[in-house]
Amino acid sequence: MYRTHTCGELRIEHVQQAVTLAGWVQTIRKFGSITFVDLRDRYGITQLLFGEELNKQLDENPLGREFVLQVKGTVSERSNKNKNIATGDIEILVNEFSILNKSEVPPFTITDETDGGDDLRMKYRYLDLRRNAVKKNLELRYAVSRSTRNYLHENNFMDIETPFLIKSTPEGARDFVVPSRMNPGQFYALPQSPQTFKQLLMVSGYDRYYQIVKCFRDEDLRADRQPEFTQIDCEMSFVEQNDILNMFEGLVKRIFKDVKNIDYTEKVERMTWEDAMWHYGNDKPDIRFGMQLLNLKKPSSVYINKKDQPELINGADFKVFDEAETVLAIAVPGCSEYSRKQTDEITEWVKRPQIGMKGLVFIKCNTDGTYKSSVDKFYSEEKLKAIANAANAKAGDLILMLAGTEERTRKAISELRLEMGKRLGFRKENEFKLLWVLDFPLFEFALEDQDGGGAGRWVARHHPFTSPKPDHINIMINNNPKVEDLDKYLEHPYANIKANAYDLVLNGNEIGGGSIRIYQKELQQKMFEALGMDEHEQQHKFGFLLGAFEYGAPPHGGLAFGFDRLCAILGGSESIRDFIAFPKNNSGRDVMLDAPATIDQKQFNELQIQLDLK
Ligand code: AMO
Repeated sequence: MYRTHTCGELRIEHVQQAVTLAGWVQTIRKFGSITFVDLRDRYGITQLLFGEELNKQLDENPLGREFVLQVKGTVSERSNKNKNIATGDIEILVNEFSILNKSEVPPFTITDETDGGDDLRMKYRYLDLRRNAVKKNLELRYAVSRSTRNYLHENNFMDIETPFLIKSTPEGARDFVVPSRMNPGQFYALPQSPQTFKQLLMVSGYDRYYQIVKCFRDEDLRADRQPEFTQIDCEMSFVEQNDILNMFEGLVKRIFKDVKNIDYTEKVERMTWEDAMWHYGNDKPDIRFGMQLLNLKKPSSVYINKKDQPELINGADFKVFDEAETVLAIAVPGCSEYSRKQTDEITEWVKRPQIGMKGLVFIKCNTDGTYKSSVDKFYSEEKLKAIANAANAKAGDLILMLAGTEERTRKAISELRLEMGKRLGFRKENEFKLLWVLDFPLFEFALEDQDGGGAGRWVARHHPFTSPKPDHINIMINNNPKVEDLDKYLEHPYANIKANAYDLVLNGNEIGGGSIRIYQKELQQKMFEALGMDEHEQQHKFGFLLGAFEYGAPPHGGLAFGFDRLCAILGGSESIRDFIAFPKNNSGRDVMLDAPATIDQKQFNELQIQLDLK
């Protein structure tokens, strides 16, 4: 038997027991004729004591860090107890040891605070995974997975696998493709999600499906994106939007309870996409704190049907505001006493290329009731006060204002809001706030070519299987999708169609999204047509789905969670990589395997493919 106990198991009550342990050498400390070794495995660390006799054997067979060691010995009470580890009351008096395997000196220390940089740790990921910090992330991931499976099983969901070698599924990214040897010149695509399969399962009558499943998307990577990532993918039949929202906020609450021991008893807020854009500047607001936007001026677009307040800034001859498409403001609590240096620093922050603003205007709402701004030349104190009131600013607040084009400015102020929220400690790591964002626009208009499909056309914002809101179906059916004047696409009725779609947002991150689906063949065809697909293309790409809709498709809907993202947020990290055992780097490379890599000429020959790199 290799071991009787793990390295995390032995306590004071085991004293006098004869035990066998096996694990990795964490540290070796020699004191004259005795040696202490910390032995580590997945469960913890146990101190070993090699007495005088064995010390001689150690001199002949020296140990090194990360050697795999087996020891037999007796549990004994430590004179010098270590309160920091669970086994700190005891040590093992070793009477026999055997080196099961040697190890090279590891390229970085296997400790919580390691000296290894990112690249090195990725290259030796199998060593990195030995570290506590990474191990606890994988443990959390497993706990989320267990909790998910339990909840869904209790609610009658069935785990059904779907294939990886398929035909393209449009989820807005590029496909990874796999050549077929048996069908020369033809390619499979790896699924961007199991979207169409889960819908087919609904047609087959499996009314509650789920899968914790890999998805593959060839897109630009960020901290919260990987080319292969995992979804908790779900679908239900005979449901309306509300049924789905209730079922899956239930799932997240259950995960909170099981994994973090948090009772999330409050109601999960629901907000329309329009409200999110208007009050927070983006569709995944962090609602742990306020600081909502004041919309002083917006372009006359129809996509946000809300009333702005241009009268508060107009008529002052301030060119920057007069000429801007959009002017937005936030009131930052308690910062009216910021120094020149501090406001300059925020100005530099918004001027960084990632934010892309030309400058920043501020108003200090002084605690003595006066107002001071960087545009005092143009605005009287009375006007400043009116703006402050509209922004719900209190005495002591600092109002920050940005002006520019609609999209960029809205994005910039939402980033600035998050940044100020972070600096002021409003984004607490252990506070969790869920939010459903509802009623997304069904379409986006591609003014420029997005994925080779050409410019000047509608694209599905979620995916082409998403149904319009019930009272918007007729707008879709009764109007020709063609946009005659590209400059006026926002006036086309399609721009106003809202989708029966929803995203679940946690602390400002989109952790899941889904929709009620189209299940009638004619409406699905109309959707494909709106997206610029002629009948031939529809049949070629989605003939199987249109065919299935001819055989009794039930009303259905679903959603998918970004599993890695959910784990990262629960673990208090920005990066999903830390929660994936073998992740890719930002260039999509596995630096441990050194993949992707070239393949042999023989493989090309078998595939009948000739490489002709441009
Ligand atoms: P969607 O494309 O919104 O929906 O994806 C669902 C969730 O998956 C996560 N996610 C990612 N996580 C890591 N890396 C990526 N590259 C990545 N891309 C997406 C996000 C997102 O909310 N089939 C639909 C779901 C449905 O309609 O049922 C879908 O895939 O957290």
